[in-house]
Amino acid sequence: MVLNEMTRPLSLAMTEEHEMLLAAVRDFAVREIAPIAAEYDESGEFPIDTVRKMGEMGLMGIEMPEAYGGAGMDTLAHVLTMIEIAKADASHSTILSVNNSLYCNGILWFGTEAQKREWIRPVASGEEIGAYSLTEPMSGSDAGNMASRAVLNEAGTHFIINGRKSWVTSAPFADRIVLFTMTADNPPRSPDGSVSTRPHSNGGKTHGNITAFLIDTRGPGFIRGKTEPKLGIRASATSEIIFEDYACPVENVLGGVGQGFKIAMTVLDAGRIGIAAQALGIAEAAYEAALVYARERQAFGAAIGSYQMIQQKIADMKTRIEAGRALIYQAIIAKERALANGTRYTSEASMAKLFCSEAAAYVTDEALQIHGGMGYSKEMPLERYYRDARITRIYEGTSEIQRLVIARKELGLR
Ligand code: CAA
Repeated sequence: MVLNEMTRPLSLAMTEEHEMLLAAVRDFAVREIAPIAAEYDESGEFPIDTVRKMGEMGLMGIEMPEAYGGAGMDTLAHVLTMIEIAKADASHSTILSVNNSLYCNGILWFGTEAQKREWIRPVASGEEIGAYSLTEPMSGSDAGNMASRAVLNEAGTHFIINGRKSWVTSAPFADRIVLFTMTADNPPRSPDGSVSTRPHSNGGKTHGNITAFLIDTRGPGFIRGKTEPKLGIRASATSEIIFEDYACPVENVLGGVGQGFKIAMTVLDAGRIGIAAQALGIAEAAYEAALVYARERQAFGAAIGSYQMIQQKIADMKTRIEAGRALIYQAIIAKERALANGTRYTSEASMAKLFCSEAAAYVTDEALQIHGGMGYSKEMPLERYYRDARITRIYEGTSEIQRLVIARKELGLR
């Protein structure tokens, strides 16, 4: 039998540094985030003070090298942090995830040295907030199909950007954004400088006309649109952004004209591991609350945890949490291997996100059910966990898109 990448034995070392990080993040999350989570969920206010504190702790750029203002740690450190922060409050973990995965990673992997120095440091250090903008009102899952445009000016010094982007996490407060838009009027160039107008083979799409830009939101022509009123992760601000003749210097093209789609997808692979960890954290919080309640709540003369119907729920919740954790660890190993040898870990990241987000839906629902009426009340955090878990099946690729990605790989399709 030939062993494929996934059937090879796995190992992931938890170092003393990881243990120390975990203890510090857990302590911070329990002391400073958990007590304010319900209040910020209710008001929808952006928790800027605790976000700044996460920055001071090095959590806003965990995997970024210290030379660029980051903590210089690895993906396991990021995952452990995401789980602990999400357990206390999913909104905080969303802000953290976008800053780390979607904003910083793209610049680290595709930026020039000058771009890394200028664009990673303020965001990885937590002084400024980063965002990532791919989605548009008419393109979500079909990310290659955009209406916004960037056109090179006659002097060749700036791209003039126009268009509307939607569902941009942290946009109401973001200082810097990695933006993906079409440069249709500027055919993509190969690394040797030759012009390529090769249309994409998939349905005539032109993924090769998408370019990534580094956007300073303080520039003229950048407008923040309406903030979305959301079901969950209500303290993580999400809004539209509008570009009206925004002039972006050519030096702020990330990774080359026409490279945007690949950058967006490469970055999402990493982001999806973070969202899997977020989902796992939300599930763990709900599960731990259910355990306490099952031990304490009396019905028919005994603690409800003594009844088999509750025990079955507990067993199924715990099993899904641990299966999800194993998939996340598998994805981390695949990612570290990919970064070392240039392979992809797209499928492993999708499996982790798919499974953990669906496990979070199951676990938060069953935990709420175990609490009965109390679970439905805003007196307890169960209904917030239930609402917050819902987004993990939608953003950074819906469950349907994760299944598509996994199945395409298995079937050798594209
Ligand atoms: N890494 C590197 N390259 C990749 C890639 C990946 N993970 N996935 C695809 N590509 C490359 C392909 O190899 C192909 O390259 P060539 O043209 O050189 O052959 C090119 O990109 C096009 O690929 P596909 O033909 O597979 O493209 P597609 O149009 O069929 O789309 C898709 C594929 C998987 C459906 C993709 O569009 C997708 O992931 N959609 C979901 C988008 C998404 O997750 N959106 C969420 C936005 S972020 C967010 O949620 C907001 C927030 O702030 C949190």
